[in-house]
Amino acid sequence: MTTHLSDLVQTRYTTKAFDPSRKLSPAQASQIEALLRFSPSSTNVQPWHFVIASSDSGKARIADTMAAGHAYNAPKVRNASHVVVLCTRQSLTDEHLARVLAQEQADGRFATEEARAGQHRGRSFFVNQHRFERRDAQHWADKQVYLALGFLLLGAAAMGVDACPIEGFDPAAVDEALGLREQGFSSTVIVALGFRAADDFNAQLPKSRLPSTEVITTL
Ligand SMILES: Cc1cc2nc3c(=O)[nH]c(=O)nc-3n(C[C@H](O)[C@H](O)[C@H](O)COP(=O)(O)O)c2cc1C
Repeated sequence: MTTHLSDLVQTRYTTKAFDPSRKLSPAQASQIEALLRFSPSSTNVQPWHFVIASSDSGKARIADTMAAGHAYNAPKVRNASHVVVLCTRQSLTDEHLARVLAQEQADGRFATEEARAGQHRGRSFFVNQHRFERRDAQHWADKQVYLALGFLLLGAAAMGVDACPIEGFDPAAVDEALGLREQGFSSTVIVALGFRAADDFNAQLPKSRLPSTEVITTL
């Protein structure tokens, strides 16, 4: 990467208008998948699923749900090259935890049975704390999904791909349109990816953030 990270975070921006004629290359699309899959999550619990729409019909299924209250976001979804719906698992079941553990074993992470059991104990401790004590397992899972959002936004910028994160949509309508609930997922946040239109007003506006003295404390 030739661009310095401090420049990158200031030049990336929320793209409000995409050029519908410009598409991600297959290599860029597969890098987007890697960013999502390899995002970190607490205890590697990976409580997510990602629906990626690149066909006009796939993007229309998502954009059509925005007609009612979120029409301002529909053109972003239609004109982007790829649209990712970041979904959260509805529940962190024992079956899911066993599946993650089996994958870690298949990937060669455990030298001994003791190491495998220790990993399962550790993950179950955290998961059960959120399930039964704090009773915020869903919220905790959503927080992991937002990490994938951050990974995706910075990663896309590093690749020279423009992005628009989108919370302005009706999750129930997207769940219905994509049949997510039947599969055990709920839509959490959407990201439209592609390349800016020449007339995107937001590309011309200066970046605005609170001053570092207000948001950073150095000890
Ligand atoms: C979780 C999240 C949801 C957002 N939802 C929308 C949205 O629905 N529509 C939109 O145009 N921008 C949306 N934004 C963009 C923010 O307004 C933008 O990130 C913020 O103003 C900072 O500007 P920048 O991304 O250009 O640096 C969202 C951003 C985030 C992180």
